[in-house]
Amino acid sequence: MASPLRSLKGKIALITGASSGIGERTAKLFAEHGAKIVIADVQDQLGQAVCDAIGSSNSKFLHCDVTKEDDVKNVVDTTIDAYGKLDIMFCNAGMADPYKARVMDVEKLDFQRVLDVNVLGVFLSMKHAARVMVPARAGSIISTASLASNIGGAASHAYCCSKHALAGLTKNLAVELGQFGIRVNCLSPYVMVTPLSTSFLGLEDEGLVDFVSSCANLKGVTLTTDDVANAALFLASDQAKYISGQNLHIDGGLGIVNPSFGLFKYPDN
Ligand SMILES: NC(=O)c1ccc[n+]([C@@H]2O[C@H](COP(=O)([O-])OP(=O)(O)OC[C@H]3O[C@@H](n4cnc5c(N)ncnc54)[C@H](O)[C@@H]3O)[C@@H](O)[C@H]2O)c1
Repeated sequence: MASPLRSLKGKIALITGASSGIGERTAKLFAEHGAKIVIADVQDQLGQAVCDAIGSSNSKFLHCDVTKEDDVKNVVDTTIDAYGKLDIMFCNAGMADPYKARVMDVEKLDFQRVLDVNVLGVFLSMKHAARVMVPARAGSIISTASLASNIGGAASHAYCCSKHALAGLTKNLAVELGQFGIRVNCLSPYVMVTPLSTSFLGLEDEGLVDFVSSCANLKGVTLTTDDVANAALFLASDQAKYISGQNLHIDGGLGIVNPSFGLFKYPDN
């Protein structure tokens, strides 16, 4: 068995949306654990910089808009040409629409764009990963959903719909691909500092952490991209060899509580 510190030794991982945020941190962590990484993103310069940091012998950047099937097909085929296989597909690229408090103000195009990237983009990534994993009869497919895959009122309507859809897609694909030994799971984090969240909430890093901590169920710790990358590492590795069809919440329990009851609130002193 591989050492826990080299738990992805010899594995090939394709990560969408790895030019920034959660994907970037996961790409670096997977590489530290021995995987070769293909980064697929629309932000070319940032993606190349992540590859430079990892090292060109262990990583590759490919331009890919996940809403375009030809782009997704190309990154999967290029990965197979370069490395001969695809062990891990991390469908992480995502976006949020501008914050609007009233449904009447939501623009159709903004709604559609979120569904395109967050649902269609993940579907295409899963489809083309499955195309090469089924003949290999092995693989781990992971996507980044959200706390908003489970509860209402935590994100915009489009974002909430898109992440609920990923939870369903994960279950369905886990059922289909189980017969080929392929595992399919998703991750559902609460909010952490990344360009996506600071821009959606209109807060700088410190302000976002304060706001997020005040709403959190689990106090005294702050969620970071490290926590999501570590969860992805676990699901990608053989340590999770019998885990499939799951939506792993990284939310400190926020998704299972209705805080308005306040049943266990200790007195201040
Ligand atoms: N930041 C949070 O608090 C949080 C919480 C829960 C879930 N998520 C999810 O995590 C994932 C990563 O987001 P992040 O927070 O790291 O944000 P981020 O903005 O740092 O990263 C998102 C990446 O996706 C890429 N991307 C966007 N559209 C794309 C497209 N069409 N094709 C290819 N790449 C595209 C961006 O260029 C960027 O590099 C998203 O799916 C997001 O919904 C984030």
